[in-house]
Amino acid sequence: MTEDTRWGDVEGYLAKTVVDEDEVLVGIRTRTVQAGLRPIEVSATDGALLALWCRLVGARRVLEIGTLGGYSATWLARAVGVQGSVTTLEMDPRAAEVAQENWRLAGVGDRVELILGAAADTLNSLVSSGTDPYDLVFIDADKKSNPAYLEAALALTHPGSLIVIDNVVRGGRVLGDSDDPDVVGTRRVLEMLGSDPRLQATAVQTVSSKGWDGFAVAYVLG
Ligand code: SAH
Ligand code: DHB
Ligand code: MG
Repeated sequence: MTEDTRWGDVEGYLAKTVVDEDEVLVGIRTRTVQAGLRPIEVSATDGALLALWCRLVGARRVLEIGTLGGYSATWLARAVGVQGSVTTLEMDPRAAEVAQENWRLAGVGDRVELILGAAADTLNSLVSSGTDPYDLVFIDADKKSNPAYLEAALALTHPGSLIVIDNVVRGGRVLGDSDDPDVVGTRRVLEMLGSDPRLQATAVQTVSSKGWDGFAVAYVLG
């Protein structure tokens, strides 16, 4: 049994024992695979952590960059409650279609808005339209653009918001080939988190069914 298999087994155990990953969420995973999308949604324990952070900051307005089949957005939508909303950005029309069906089946379709298009363009429009700030931003799309996404997140949040970035370790590739645009983007965004006086940040390594990875989380200071 490889380490990775055991990480997956423990992830399954924790998801069942501690985290309430119900059949609706499992169904979202299944339909994502059946639709031919890559099964790269967050783990159940990470989804629950996103939900917990929403509750800790009392999030009502959440922004997600990178939707896929709508798995993490469903955790977020449940956590913001009936008064809350999740805006999620996706460029793949097929993923958008699958996600919207998943939210309908999960009963959260009325609180999730998907904006189709390249996230950088959508973020520019959101910033220039002067939209109300978000309480939590979850960045989980193309890693090379993470520095731009963090800049936009800073423009779209308020003191007390949280900014979360997925996949900042990628099996240790964060320390690898510095020509890979995704590695460059990840390292740059981690440096930005570490040096911006507006943020208190950390990055945490994780192991799960998705192998060795990690996330960064930053609190927007007053
Ligand atoms: N947050 C999801 C997983 C997202 S996977 C979950 O945990 O359930 C990353 C997604 O980002 C993919 O669906 C991909 O199509 C999308 N994506 C990649 N580059 C993008 C871009 N430039 N603009 C918008 N979406 C992008
Ligand atoms: C990949 C992207 C993700 O957002 C993730 O959580 C895992 C893997 C990928 O592009 O390989
Ligand atoms: Mg991810």
